[in-house]
Amino acid sequence: MFRSKTCGELTIKNVGETVTLAGWVQTIRKFGAITFVDLRDRYGITQLLFGEELNKQLEENPLGREFVLQATGKVSERSNKNKNIATGDIEIAITTFNILNKSETPPFTIQDDTDGGDDLRMKYRYLDLRRNAVKKNLELRYAVNRSARNYLHENNFIDIETPFLIKSTPEGARDFVVPSRMNEGQFYALPQSPQTFKQLLMVSGYDKYYQIVKCFRDEDLRADRQPEFTQIDCEMSFIEQEDVLQMFEGLVKRIFKDVKGIDYNETVERMTWEDAMWQYGNDKPDIRFGMKLCNLKFPQHTFPAKENISSLIESEFAVFNDAETVVAIAVPNCSEYSRKQTDELIEWVKRPQIGMKGLAFIKCNTDGIYKSSFDKFFSEEKLKAIAHAANAHAGDLVLLLAGAEERTRKAISELRLEMGKRLGLRKEDEFKLLWILDFPLFEYAEEENRWVARHHPFTSPKPSDIATMINNNPTIENAAEYLKHPYANIKANAYDMVLNGNEIGGGSIRIYQKELQQKMFAALGMNEEDQQNKFGFLLGAFEYGAPPHGGIAFGFDRLCSILGGSESIRDFIAFPKNNSGRDVMIDAPSIIDNKQLNELQIKLDLK
Ligand code: AMO
Repeated sequence: MFRSKTCGELTIKNVGETVTLAGWVQTIRKFGAITFVDLRDRYGITQLLFGEELNKQLEENPLGREFVLQATGKVSERSNKNKNIATGDIEIAITTFNILNKSETPPFTIQDDTDGGDDLRMKYRYLDLRRNAVKKNLELRYAVNRSARNYLHENNFIDIETPFLIKSTPEGARDFVVPSRMNEGQFYALPQSPQTFKQLLMVSGYDKYYQIVKCFRDEDLRADRQPEFTQIDCEMSFIEQEDVLQMFEGLVKRIFKDVKGIDYNETVERMTWEDAMWQYGNDKPDIRFGMKLCNLKFPQHTFPAKENISSLIESEFAVFNDAETVVAIAVPNCSEYSRKQTDELIEWVKRPQIGMKGLAFIKCNTDGIYKSSFDKFFSEEKLKAIAHAANAHAGDLVLLLAGAEERTRKAISELRLEMGKRLGLRKEDEFKLLWILDFPLFEYAEEENRWVARHHPFTSPKPSDIATMINNNPTIENAAEYLKHPYANIKANAYDMVLNGNEIGGGSIRIYQKELQQKMFAALGMNEEDQQNKFGFLLGAFEYGAPPHGGIAFGFDRLCSILGGSESIRDFIAFPKNNSGRDVMIDAPSIIDNKQLNELQIKLDLK
């Protein structure tokens, strides 16, 4: 037997037993004639005691950090107990040991608080993965995986694999492409998601499909994006939107329960896309805290609706007067911000990432006095009225941004999140789910002056909007006025699930009639030939009895990182890529040799 116990399981109850452990040497401490070694394996750390009689052997065969060691001895009670670890009450008085393998001194310490920087840890990821902090993330990932599989299995879903070498049909992100040796000059693409395959499986009659599957997208990377990531991808037939919402809030609630022990009994909130944009400035609001936006130039979109709001900001103050939009948030209990603090906030909104020219504020002091950064133009009465409109209370600080609609909305949404973070309102251990519904079906792509699908081209319009889609020509005559085109108002049968301000999943009820699908492709600027070339297989399948269907895909890595309380999905992926899409451990991507290029008949012409 190689080992009789693991390094994580021995307690005071085992005192007196003879055990054999195997693992890695974490630390070595010599005290005169005795030596203590902390031995680590996947399950924990156990202290080994090498007495005088073994010290001579240790001198002949010195141990070092990360050596692989097998050691046998008797479990005994420790005089100096360590309350921080499970095995802290005992140690093993070693009688024999065997060095199974040596190790170079590792490039960083393999402990929770490591001295290794990001790059170094990624280069030696196999060592980084020995650290408890990373290990527990992978364990959480596995727990989420198991929980999802159990739930989906219990609900009759079947896991079906779909191909990775598919056809390039870029609509959304860029494809990663793979040259085909056997088909000269032709390329496969790696799937951005199994979208069309899962729809074909519905045509084939597998009415509940799922797959925990890799997806590949050649897009700019951020903390919550990787070029290859994993989805919990699902599809169902003979359902309506409500069935999908119910089934998949069930999935997330089950994961909360299994992985975090949380009973999420409250109803999952629902919000239309439009309300999310007006009330929070983005389509994935963090609803763990309030601070809703007050749209001073759009009274109809301020909640609760307030009359005459726009008149409040009429004055000689050009910053408000000339702006397309003026938005405010009431930050609780910050009226006593000092000049230094408000100056710092002004600098914060001026950073290039936020891009505003300035920030105005009203201090709603607890003594009932209102002071603002624009006192010159406004009476105290008016300041009070604006603060009131923004739902401010005594002691609050009202922050106002003015400018072009899109940029200002984005900026106030970032500012709201930042203030929420600073005030500790975005609590890591609080989870708030939210469905965003009724997304627009189309988005306007300025560079190409055409419509693109906001979710994807297989998403159905709301039944009440089908006529608008069919009866109107998609051509945009006047780019500046695209919002006036009837297509701008068509809503989709699409939904996103948001958790604590992150989009963790998205899906839709699909188009399943050939004619409507063709109309959709046409609306996106695809002529019949394009449609046949790219999606002939799907249009063909829709001729053979496609059932009504819909589905959703969850970002598995994202879900794990939120449950694990981290901003970066990399921490939850065993072998992630860096921000330039590189795997610095295996050094990929890399050039390939001429022989390989010749086989593929590819000649590089690098600019
Ligand atoms: P969508 O493109 O919205 O939908 O993706 C679903 C979810 O996947 C996650 N996600 C990512 N995670 C990490 N890195 C990325 N680069 C990345 N891109 C997306 C997000 C997102 O909500 N086929 C459709 C689903 C459907 O309609 O059923 C799809 O792929 O959490």
